[in-house]
Amino acid sequence: MTAAPLDASKVKISRVSTPSKPRPNDELVFGSTFADHMLTVEWTKEKGWDVPEIKPYGNLSLDPSCAVFHYGFELFEGLKAYKTPDNQVTMFRPDMNMKRLNKSAARICLPTVESEELIKLMGKLIEQDKHLVPEGRGYSLYVRPTMIGTTAALGVSAPDKALLYVITSPVGPYYKTGFKAVRLEATDYATRAWPGGVGDKKLGANYAPCALPHQQAAARGYQQNLWLFGPEKNITEVGTMNVFFVFKDAATGKQELVTAPLDGTILEGVTRDSILALAHEKLDSNNWIISERYFTIKEVAERAAKGELVEAFGSGTAAVVSPIKEIGWKGTDIHVPLQPGKQTGPLTEQVAQWIADIQYGKEKHGNWSRI
Ligand code: COI
Repeated sequence: MTAAPLDASKVKISRVSTPSKPRPNDELVFGSTFADHMLTVEWTKEKGWDVPEIKPYGNLSLDPSCAVFHYGFELFEGLKAYKTPDNQVTMFRPDMNMKRLNKSAARICLPTVESEELIKLMGKLIEQDKHLVPEGRGYSLYVRPTMIGTTAALGVSAPDKALLYVITSPVGPYYKTGFKAVRLEATDYATRAWPGGVGDKKLGANYAPCALPHQQAAARGYQQNLWLFGPEKNITEVGTMNVFFVFKDAATGKQELVTAPLDGTILEGVTRDSILALAHEKLDSNNWIISERYFTIKEVAERAAKGELVEAFGSGTAAVVSPIKEIGWKGTDIHVPLQPGKQTGPLTEQVAQWIADIQYGKEKHGNWSRI
């Protein structure tokens, strides 16, 4: 028997009897309320993908011996859908999430999906709850595709059963009061990811071990960890986000936008990729260098001391960009400049605007916005 591919045309839809009412925008807390419907698709090694089902949001029923509960066979994705001025709902670059989902799946021996089929299924799911997609800048529907190994046995091996499901959550801006620049603790006492590891994959297993260093940094007054790697103390990521710095060469006046290279230890962020693409398109190359290169906390400290550190920000789907104002390192705080009276540097603000204009349908950018 050949294993069946994922096929969106087979979807079975059962709707809730009473659709819920949208909550007022000011009551939306990131990822804490969910829309009325979810998508589930079961997979077995023998038969492949079963019939996709869109049904009322609800509990899963799983055998307690399932692989996901014991050995971490779990991956997830995060993307957002936006209400546009012509009352459409568009997903932002879902093809990038599908590509990454398949890389995560392959790495932990879960099945890959036909990307376009899952995009169609997510579109159908979003359609059921269109009235719950909040309107306005900063508001969107967060979409969370998830895959788990469901083989019910305690032997450690590649799962021969899996469940793919997608839930959605109406969300507001990550920071209700607009941007709020954060203080980071440069962290070298715990390592987020390492060469040959899985730091570039969106696996739940990458997130749980970061909760303790996060608590430790928070106890010292820092909101997030700035993850360092190796004896050189390369800057890799911040919290659950990619990270960008802006330096200005005092001699030439040229500015550099820099982020860590995708060497297998860095999450291949969709927002990271979008920022790099837009920076290449929009920044004047006479005044700007855009770099994906290694850089260290030592370089940041030295350049801050010389007045060459201009800005720093995290990037991710949830917050889009998150400005940084201070970095604790070796008992002192490295100060990152902000614009007077604002919680952000100028490029950070500009980048957020570029991306929002595309996400909310004010600007078109290739096929980045998809129904
Ligand atoms: C994001 O920045 O989008 C993330 O990956 C955070 C998510 C784990 C809530």
